[in-house]
Amino acid sequence: MGNGKTPVSAVVAIDGPSGSGKSTVARKVAERFGLGYLDTGAMYRAATWWVMQKNITLTDRDAVSAAVRKMPLTVQTDPRRQNVICGDTDITDVIRTSGLSKVVSQVATNPDVRKELIRRQREIIARECEPGGFSGGKGIVAEGRDITTVVAPDADVRILLTASREARLARRAREVRGSDSAQALAATRDEVLRRDRDDSAVSEFMTAQEGVTEIDSSNLTLEQTVDAVAALVGGPRGE
Ligand code: DC
Repeated sequence: MGNGKTPVSAVVAIDGPSGSGKSTVARKVAERFGLGYLDTGAMYRAATWWVMQKNITLTDRDAVSAAVRKMPLTVQTDPRRQNVICGDTDITDVIRTSGLSKVVSQVATNPDVRKELIRRQREIIARECEPGGFSGGKGIVAEGRDITTVVAPDADVRILLTASREARLARRAREVRGSDSAQALAATRDEVLRRDRDDSAVSEFMTAQEGVTEIDSSNLTLEQTVDAVAALVGGPRGE
């Protein structure tokens, strides 16, 4: 996605369900190519944190979207540490708690919230393709559920990262609970399967759309998955 000044800037869009590994893979690909990184899920998490702080009922569509439009959110694009700051509070870690993960879909399925956050995501992506951004205008890897289809359908590289239900559950259980025992798997089920069912009502991220390359990571290691994505990014910055 060249802009005249920086003809080599690239936008890499990666979508996928929970536990597909897309955040880790997107970060590593961004680091490898010196690109910025945007985790759009963090923005829906930040919005949820913000409206909860304000004691707004998450199902009150108008009150939630009005609050989100005023949210003073800064999302940094350094792939080594994407700080998420709301006002003067660093919420990078607090937005990862399992209590918030359980309710975030209620905010992420609010159409007016999506409209506002999609607008901000497009701005961040455009800024990263300019010389002043973290990557110095090289571009960005943006990941989420609707990046390849809605946020940046004209991205240079569009990837859907999938994995079997079993692989996704086990990964998320290890990540969040440090184990993939039967008990940890059962506790993680809601966060992965129920949430994906709810989220897929508003975005298509289980099936690759036209022009989107699907990579199934069920039987790939993290390194192999990063290599598969990097091969599609390729170009002069490839290794
Ligand atoms: O990827 P994640 O678990 O951090 O995402 C948090 C929530 O935001 C999840 O419920 C899906 C939703 N989401 C979305 O609807 N669209 C995106 N582009 C990214 C995330």
